[in-house]
Amino acid sequence: MAADVIDLILQDHREIERLFDQLDRHPARRPLLVPILSALLIAHDRAEEEEIYPVAREAGGTDEITRSQKEHLRAEDLLVKLELADAEDSAFDTVLTELADMVTAHFREEERQVLPAMRERLGEGQMEALAKAFLSSRDKHFGERPRDRRLSDLQQQARNAGLVGFSDLAKNELADLLRKLAGS
Ligand SMILES: [Fe+2]
Repeated sequence: MAADVIDLILQDHREIERLFDQLDRHPARRPLLVPILSALLIAHDRAEEEEIYPVAREAGGTDEITRSQKEHLRAEDLLVKLELADAEDSAFDTVLTELADMVTAHFREEERQVLPAMRERLGEGQMEALAKAFLSSRDKHFGERPRDRRLSDLQQQARNAGLVGFSDLAKNELADLLRKLAGS
């Protein structure tokens, strides 16, 4: 039987929460764990942005997806700060707490609103196709760095966030616009 797309997303959510817990409880492991967290969170978020959010938006979740996309952008900026922070410095703990709280609240919202609405509105065939598309996008984006986005990734983020009229913007202009939108 094909994997269920919602199960795949939930497995990533639980693994990311586990990494946050490990990062909090084992400071000595931080240099090893930060790149793992970063790679997983970026690949997961990009795959959602590319395959899940457009479908969820289309299925009626406009406001939720606008908000969810902005949260991805904020998480990405905090991830950059976490990567730059010294793991032994108190600034690391501050950024880690902010990122973990934000991402955990974001997961709860997705699990309470976005994913159940998708299950309700999409047929079995669409859900199966989505599972394959999610895995393949996640695979493609694995290893990418936060804020390291192609123009097409930025345009997808802009569409998910409900922006219009950005098609003429250059890559750096669109990246700046999205950073302002995220409020970071
Ligand atoms: Fe998400």
